[in-house]
Amino acid sequence: MEHTFEQYIEKVKELNEGKNLKYYILTMGCQLNENDSEKLGGMLTKMGYIETNNQEDADILIYNTCCVRENAEEKLFGKIGEVKRQKEQKGTIIAIGGCMMQEQHILDKIKQSYPYVDIIFGTHTLHKLPEDIYKILNNRKKIEDILYIDGEVIEGLPIKRNDNIKASVTIMNGCNNFCSYCIVPYVRGRERSRNPKDILDEIQALANKGYKEITLLGQNVNSYLRSEKENGKIKEMEYEGINSFATLLRAVNEIDGIEIIRFVSPHPKDFTDDVIEAIRDCKKVCKLIHLPLQSGSTQVLKAMNRKYTKEQYLALVDKMKKVIPGVVFTTDIIVGFPGETEADLEDTLDVVRKVNFEQVFMFIYSRRVGTPGDKMENQIPEEVKHQRFNKLKALVESQIQARNKEYIGTVQNVLVEGTSKNNENMLTGRTYSNKVVVFEGSKDLIGKMVDLKIVSEHMWYLKGETID
Ligand code: 5AD
Ligand code: SF4
Repeated sequence: MEHTFEQYIEKVKELNEGKNLKYYILTMGCQLNENDSEKLGGMLTKMGYIETNNQEDADILIYNTCCVRENAEEKLFGKIGEVKRQKEQKGTIIAIGGCMMQEQHILDKIKQSYPYVDIIFGTHTLHKLPEDIYKILNNRKKIEDILYIDGEVIEGLPIKRNDNIKASVTIMNGCNNFCSYCIVPYVRGRERSRNPKDILDEIQALANKGYKEITLLGQNVNSYLRSEKENGKIKEMEYEGINSFATLLRAVNEIDGIEIIRFVSPHPKDFTDDVIEAIRDCKKVCKLIHLPLQSGSTQVLKAMNRKYTKEQYLALVDKMKKVIPGVVFTTDIIVGFPGETEADLEDTLDVVRKVNFEQVFMFIYSRRVGTPGDKMENQIPEEVKHQRFNKLKALVESQIQARNKEYIGTVQNVLVEGTSKNNENMLTGRTYSNKVVVFEGSKDLIGKMVDLKIVSEHMWYLKGETID
């Protein structure tokens, strides 16, 4: 008989009874990976393991990997090499999961060079962890649980959240866009949306526990339920009129207790009017939109398979600025994509100047095995990529500094998140535009919304004062 993950959790818990075992998870990726790690932590906690921040104390150690950019591979292999001694001395169970495990060349390397790894799991087999651990504890055989990548979304995994004010909720998995630089469609599979009801129930439960801020997660959030519309599954999934990203935003906005709603990442080509109007109408939805540009050159965008031009991107930004009062933007930009010229870079800088982003996440193009970009002939030399990156960075930093100055003297409504990492006596919060504000105040304010007057700016944070 097949056991469910809940039954395996119980079995492992019995085996672990009274042993005071510890777990350590290292998350190497994006917010979706973080959210997966919270589920791994939830299952491990139920199996009787206690979290430790010290890798050497761990009886089970998990690396949750990412493969979007290159240097993560070297880092992972370094880490696995380092734990060999711990494995020999203490018998620590070593498990490696996440996106990188969906890449054949990585799997081959681990099997060949690091035979002491116990468990390898993929992005769709998180729920197999209890079963894998059970089998390891019973017969110490190596387990590989990758499975095909288009598996169903498994509901109901326990979750151990890293924060008690802000929470991330995955609304969809996978991506159908195949941007030519990106490995994600190959390792996370096709788009699959969660049921609206499951999402709303999860957010309601978070609100009941006192959570204030929700980030809706997916590789392509604004095509939420699109595949289901195309394959006819929408009829059984639709719930109280929710059949799109816009209607989901409106429903989440109605949940009492939640004060702030964010979402990452949307795709510019899917930014339909209904989504723009929902952002305008929903008070709790942040008027900060992460709108990945990737490049400002129409030619490069075409080679990247992004399906919009420089002009269309700028027109979309203009439309949103008109419809949504006070809207601001953040973005992702890749420099050094194959074939990029100095003129193409100028186009990117031009868009950056025009949009005046709140924040730009900048990346140097990194070749990913199996993607069309990797096979392109006109790759850019490393030093040229770095020069271009530095040029972009200089522009972005000067813009951010100028923007920060505009905050001085304004009053910002912020959600107080906790004490400052650098100074226990100071509190920190964030503006809707995601700027960190540091200020002096009573710890009772944690978890509350407060108005702060901004008194000074520093590159990565603003300083504020409470208003009496
Ligand atoms: N090289 C560099 N950056 C990349 N990104 C995705 N793939 C690559 C790559 N091969 C960046 C994109 C994406 C962000 C999450 O990572 O900008 O939006
Ligand atoms: Fe990658 Fe493009 Fe999909 Fe984003 S939209 S995950 S960049 S393929």
